[in-house]
Amino acid sequence: LLNDDDKAVISGFWGKASSRAAEIGADALGRMLVVYPQTKTYFDHWKDKSPSSHNVRKHGKKIMDAIGDAITLMGDLNNALLELSQLHAFTLRVDPSNFKMLSHNILVVMANYFPDDFTPDVHLAMDKFLAAVARALSERYR
Ligand code: HEM
Repeated sequence: LLNDDDKAVISGFWGKASSRAAEIGADALGRMLVVYPQTKTYFDHWKDKSPSSHNVRKHGKKIMDAIGDAITLMGDLNNALLELSQLHAFTLRVDPSNFKMLSHNILVVMANYFPDDFTPDVHLAMDKFLAAVARALSERYR
């Protein structure tokens, strides 16, 4: 669970990183589709799934906007992500194991963009936060 220190570290890092949220989301999504090609099956309705494609750029922004909202609602993630959980579980039928793959790529991209700010403490707190987001997104699956 996220403690007060984690929350402060996450908010502090996001204060800086949020200015590049759209890019972070697009690069993380683009990477996920390359590094874990099995995730591409969920996006088969997109003509172009390459990292620089319009679809990936646009959807990456949506993902990081949702992450940004979740950061402001960190204390109540299950509630904050209820609708998105419902969508991924019942409508999109995304296997929850895939959340880890996106989370991993978000961390990689954050570390790339902010090498000086992405200290081990930030890494730890963001990893915990993204795991909590994945748990909250999986809430509706059972
Ligand atoms: C749609 C967030 C993980 C597959 C969405 C939307 C958001 C979102 C905000 C748009 C919802 C709407 O239009 O109302 C997230 C977050 C994730 C996550 C925060 C985890 C941190 C994943 C993963 C997959 C996935 C891992 C599959 C590998 C999809 C698909 C759509 C979608 C297929 C619909 C895309 C479309 O509009 O064409 N997600 N998502 N999501 N998500 Fe996720």
